[in-house]
Amino acid sequence: MKTPKFLLPVATVGVLALTLSACAGGGGTTDSGGGDAAANLEGRGPITYVQGKDNSNVVRPLVDKWNAAHPNEKVTFKEQTDSADQQHDDLVQNYQSKNANYDVASVDVVWTAEFAAKGWLQPLKDTMAVDTSAMLKPTVEAGSYKGTLYAAPVSSDGGILYYRKDLVPTPPKTWDEMMGMCSIAKTNNIDCYSGQFKQYEGLTVNASEAINSAGGSVLNSDGKPNLNTPEAKAGLENLVAAFKDGNIPEQAITYQEEESRRAFQDGNLLFLRNWPYVYNLASTEGSSKVKDVLGMTALPGKDGPGASSLGGHSAAISVYSKNKATALDFVKFLTAEEQQKFFATQGSLAPVLGALYEDQALVSKLPYLPVLKTSIENAVPRPVTPFYPAVTKAIQENAYAALKGDKTAEKALADMQASIESAGAGS
Ligand code: GLC
Repeated sequence: MKTPKFLLPVATVGVLALTLSACAGGGGTTDSGGGDAAANLEGRGPITYVQGKDNSNVVRPLVDKWNAAHPNEKVTFKEQTDSADQQHDDLVQNYQSKNANYDVASVDVVWTAEFAAKGWLQPLKDTMAVDTSAMLKPTVEAGSYKGTLYAAPVSSDGGILYYRKDLVPTPPKTWDEMMGMCSIAKTNNIDCYSGQFKQYEGLTVNASEAINSAGGSVLNSDGKPNLNTPEAKAGLENLVAAFKDGNIPEQAITYQEEESRRAFQDGNLLFLRNWPYVYNLASTEGSSKVKDVLGMTALPGKDGPGASSLGGHSAAISVYSKNKATALDFVKFLTAEEQQKFFATQGSLAPVLGALYEDQALVSKLPYLPVLKTSIENAVPRPVTPFYPAVTKAIQENAYAALKGDKTAEKALADMQASIESAGAGS
C-alpha cells in the first residue's frame, strides 16, 4: 500500500484540529482545473443562493430583507433537501456542469477541501476578501484550504445533549451515567437515547463523537488514521451495546437529524444528541411535547464531558458565477452581526462571531449559549482532505455494519482504518 498522502495536522489554540491534505503532485485529486477565478469579479445582477432545507425558517426572511434593499441584485433561494449527502451530491453535479447559477452555496465544513481542490470555489482574497478577524478560529479554518479562505463561515455547529428536565434531575456527564439513567426511560415507557445513525454524514459525526468521547480519535496527531486502538473500540462498542440492549431504539438506525428531533419532540425519547437548531423548534413548535422541559448539556464522555464533531456551514461563491461582486456582498451580509443575531434568536443556530457568545442580551434570551460555546471550542474536526468522500464512506459503512451487528466493532474499525488509508493514498 502506498503511504497515505496526509500532511501534518495543524493544532489550534483550544481546539484539536487535525488536518489531512493531499501532497503536492499526488494523484486522485485535482488541485488545478475548475473555473476562472479572475472572471466576473465586477459582475452585478441577480444571483441564486443554494442551501439545504431551511428547517429553522431563517433564510427566506433574510433573502426578503436583502431583496428589498437590492432590487437589481435580487437573490433567489434554491432550497435543497435536509440530507447532508444529497446536498453534497447536488452541489457536485452543478459544479461539474459549470452551472453559472449556483452563485452562492452553503458548504458544509467537511466539503471545503474537496470543492476547493477541484477549483470550484472562488478564493476569498484580494478584492474578494471577507474579514474573518472576529470569527471563531475553527470556523475560519473549516472554510479554508491550504491557507486560503474559500468559504466564509456563516453558522457553526456543535453537538448538544438534549434531555428531559422533568424526568432527569441531574444531567449525566458520562456515557455510563447516561446509560444508567435509561431505567428512567423504561419506567416512563419511552425510549432512552438517540442520535443520527442512518448511513450518511450524520453517522460519521455520531461514530466519531463516540470514538472521541471514549478517549480515542479518528486520526492521530500526525493526521494518520488511528482506529485500531482500545479507546476507539470502547467508543464504537458503546453504541453497539446500546443498540443491542435497546437503550438506543431499533428505529434510530434510520434517523437523520429531523427524524430524531421529531422522536424527541413527540416525547418518545429521554435523551437526544443533536445540533443547536433543535432548541428553537422544540421550544416553539405548537406540537412539541417537550417545550417546557427541555434540558441542554454537553455530550457525555468517558470520565466527564465528551467531544463533539465540529459541524457548521460556510458560504462559498462559485467560480462559474457571472455576478461575483453581488455574490460577495451577499456573503458579507450573511456573516454580518445583524444577520448572525437573527440566525441565533430565530433559528438557534450557532453564531460564528465570538463576541455574540458573551453578549449579555443574547445570553439572557438563549441561556444555552455557554454550553454551545464549550461544545464548539472542544469540538474535533472531521478529517480535512480533498478525499473526504472516500473517508466518510469508510467511516459510515463500517460503523453502520457494526451497529447492525454485521461486523464486530473491532473488525469494523480495522476495515475503517484500511479504507481510510487507501483513500488517503488516492488509490
Ligand atoms: C449538520 C452539521 C454538518 C454535518 C451534518 C451531518 O448540518 O452542521 O457539519 O455534516 O449536520 O448531517
